[in-house]
Amino acid sequence: MAIETAPGVEVDASEPNQHGYREFRLGEFAFSRDEYFVYMTWPTGRHVLSADGFLRALQRDVAWDFFYGIVNFDGVLGTMNHYGTVDLFAGRYNDSYRKAELDHMENFETPLIRETFKAMLDDWTNAGFDPFASPTETGSAFGPKSGENRRAITRHRVTAKRMVGVPGDEQIRTDESGFPKNRHFLDVPQDEPEIDAEPGFEDEVCSFNLFAYLSRSDVTWNPSVVSACKNSLYCPTTEEYILPIIHGNDRVEWFVQLSDEIWWNVEDRDTGAARAKVVMKPGDVAAMPADIRHQGYAPKRSMLLVWENASPDLPELLSSGKLPPVPVEF
Ligand SMILES: [Fe+2]
Repeated sequence: MAIETAPGVEVDASEPNQHGYREFRLGEFAFSRDEYFVYMTWPTGRHVLSADGFLRALQRDVAWDFFYGIVNFDGVLGTMNHYGTVDLFAGRYNDSYRKAELDHMENFETPLIRETFKAMLDDWTNAGFDPFASPTETGSAFGPKSGENRRAITRHRVTAKRMVGVPGDEQIRTDESGFPKNRHFLDVPQDEPEIDAEPGFEDEVCSFNLFAYLSRSDVTWNPSVVSACKNSLYCPTTEEYILPIIHGNDRVEWFVQLSDEIWWNVEDRDTGAARAKVVMKPGDVAAMPADIRHQGYAPKRSMLLVWENASPDLPELLSSGKLPPVPVEF
């Protein structure tokens, strides 16, 4: 059956299977799930993933509108954003699948893959499971189809036009607005900065307490834009457990560890070969190269500032070799 979602976009979905879940087709890819697993097939292969990890990755791909570069769900499945179209692939960035010629990739107009992924996320997320939450702050993804959790999967994504706290822009988080302090950040001071503006400039100076703001984040591994200066975006995020995707960069990303600790597994972006293990402690700064992919592990909730350069010229400058994949050479 076809589900009409956004105007002019038809999602190819089946009637529910014996577990209550619809099956989805996108080009020559097919996706289905049962109580524990998600299965995908393509003309030259098949693959299986755990339903909880799959939904956590799918949630981020949808919420970020395919993000920068590559969102790997694992070492086989993923998407590559071309900012207008999106590649869906199996084994394309996996040396073994490439050499065996079992990899497969198709390019889709962004609205079709976006609406298909949204419909899959909606149908496969049961009541009580929040794909954005840490494992100890949510219920189970498993079992037969049981209700829905639209409130969790359609959260507002923070994308400040100038900065959090500026009139008319994204606002700070408070108990009253539904953002209590996270259990791991109860010791974070909540006082807001005092502003002493020159007369006549009272309406033009703004500030906010970033640590207090992050201590009230109700999601994990979700970089959101809290300030923007042209293409320079500050995208801090709070992290706990494992980044549900392996992010393949299409530009350099700067990481500033604001609190606690994250371990990063860094691999070659195209083959998956191991390149580095980076353990970041408070105050550490790293420039993640444009030709890597990385996955983070946070033993407790931590604060990470991701600094993104959103210039649309960067992927072409890097793929053509006009820019090196690192911002500095030692
Ligand atoms: Fe990244």
